[in-house]
Amino acid sequence: MKLRSALWLFLNAIMIAKVKPINFPKSYTCQLSSSLTGLPFYTPRECCGPRWISYNKTSLEMALSSKLFGQHLASPIILKTVTRHMENPNSETPLVLSLHGLTGTGKSFVSRLIAESIYHNGMRSKFVHLFITTEHFPHKAHLETYKDQLKQWVKGNVSECPSSMFIFDEMDKMQTDLIDSIKPYLDYHGTIDGVSYGQAIFIFLSNSGGMEIAKKALDFWKTGRKREEINLMDLEKDLTLSVFNNEKNGLWRSSVISEKLVDFYVPFLPLEHKHLVQCGLAEMAARGMKPDQGVVERMAKEYSFFPDEERIFSNQGCKMVSKRLDFYL
Ligand SMILES: Nc1ncnc2c1ncn2[C@@H]1O[C@H](COP(=O)(O)OP(=O)(O)OP(=O)(O)O)[C@@H](O)[C@H]1O
Ligand SMILES: [Mg+2]
Repeated sequence: MKLRSALWLFLNAIMIAKVKPINFPKSYTCQLSSSLTGLPFYTPRECCGPRWISYNKTSLEMALSSKLFGQHLASPIILKTVTRHMENPNSETPLVLSLHGLTGTGKSFVSRLIAESIYHNGMRSKFVHLFITTEHFPHKAHLETYKDQLKQWVKGNVSECPSSMFIFDEMDKMQTDLIDSIKPYLDYHGTIDGVSYGQAIFIFLSNSGGMEIAKKALDFWKTGRKREEINLMDLEKDLTLSVFNNEKNGLWRSSVISEKLVDFYVPFLPLEHKHLVQCGLAEMAARGMKPDQGVVERMAKEYSFFPDEERIFSNQGCKMVSKRLDFYL
């Protein structure tokens, strides 16, 4: 335990050192990295320029339509908002999206698809920053330190590369005040201390609101309406209220919500048996195998569904498909 704390303090020290804003002009940073290699051949090193960061709308559109199942609401919102943001070089405020839904419905998956459509290195890009509440902000008593570090980290990284992306996972486990520490960066038009946040993207992920979304999907099912008929208006109010009023959410009563700094609340619907089958078939195809409906159907039987009586929605969404499939191959 002591060793872990020491390691954490050490990492914090590095983090604080690392977040100091870098004052080199961007182009210089890129040239420096290649000319310093001293090698007779060019060793590419990721830098903040179009070679490494360039939005590909077609690839996002294709990925959303062919790889993401059962999310007819999330898919177009993601495509539209990301495209509008990425195609506006004069954007004054960052894009702020809050993704909500039960476990395994595709929130992290979609964040990855967004990263892959913008950054050559996808989620491995040094300009994509993933914060997981239980890993990065585990101790309640350290709230003030986390606030400081988070502010510095965001500021330092955006000053190094304006097109940075920050993903905050497990918002429902985050302490309420923490996210408010970066609020000035989300709503300010212009620059703060010479740094402009207009090109950055912030994505919040959480399970809160997931039950409300599932309840709405169940209502539609019970009344014989198609899931595809659910529209944003059906969910929006329930969703924002449940997020804002949920004490267990990092956005609870947060000024990030009350001051309307989130551009879009994106609902992820619970997945049904047929989506689970689609996930299984896609997994087989991704492994270079011939998709086999029988195998995948057997795998899907292993999943539990809710509500207990009707058994419509997968309790784990498409999570663990890859591992579970192994048993049936
Ligand atoms: N709607 C979907 N369409 C296609 N694949 C999906 C979908 N949802 C989940 N998956 C698959 O299941 C895996 C796990 O999903 P993901 O990690 O995105 O869930 P999540 O919504 O982030 O869950 P959690 O709230 O537990 O973090 C993904 O990597 C992907 O392979
Ligand atoms: Mg996730």
